[in-house]
Amino acid sequence: MATLTYIGHSAFALEANGKQVLLDPFISGNPTAKHSASDFNPQTILLTHAHNDHVGDTVDIAKKSGATVIATVELANYLGEQGVEVIGANFGGTVQFDGGSAKFVPAWHTSTYTTSEGVVAPGVPAGFIIEFGGKTIYAAGDTCLFSDMKLIGEAGIDIALLPVGDHFTMGPDDALRAVKFVEPKTVIPCHYNTFPPIQQDVNAFKKAVDAETGATCEIVAPGSTYEF
Ligand code: NI
Ligand code: MN
Repeated sequence: MATLTYIGHSAFALEANGKQVLLDPFISGNPTAKHSASDFNPQTILLTHAHNDHVGDTVDIAKKSGATVIATVELANYLGEQGVEVIGANFGGTVQFDGGSAKFVPAWHTSTYTTSEGVVAPGVPAGFIIEFGGKTIYAAGDTCLFSDMKLIGEAGIDIALLPVGDHFTMGPDDALRAVKFVEPKTVIPCHYNTFPPIQQDVNAFKKAVDAETGATCEIVAPGSTYEF
């Protein structure tokens, strides 16, 4: 059995065969999170980009767990300088990790990291095609709609993790078009209702996905776990 726990915002924990992978673990300061960073002990952390609402607790969790952080080269190098084990890669590349793999695919967004000393800009945003727990998972990261999602769909996506919040990413209407491009079996919406600008009626999104596409939308509440 494999499970996906929605931590909230774009943060997920995937577990299968005793392996745990965290995706964009923004937990401390995440108003929707029911977990704390200390609840997780991953072998791998995947980061789509450097924004603070995605890097989140990465450095603390990685130092404590010994997890390897996988990110675009510049962000990986930046985090490596903080004393974290990293693997940097780039678009088109596939990185093997403990229990699976992640292929870097494009995402249309920006990528800066704000520290107490100012703003740095390590790397560019990415999405991932993740092979884990016997399934193929597309984690879109933060992105707008783009037609090359059709190419990503050619991988045969079981589960698509798509942002629907609007304002910083695509909103529900474009996310629905993304589902039609990617043609996953299951869609799990994310990056909504964390902050006032990204409030969305996710039930309306689910209705549209279920009615207009071949996919099933699964709304996973923050703190809840979905079996796949
Ligand atoms: Ni972002
Ligand atoms: Mn974000």
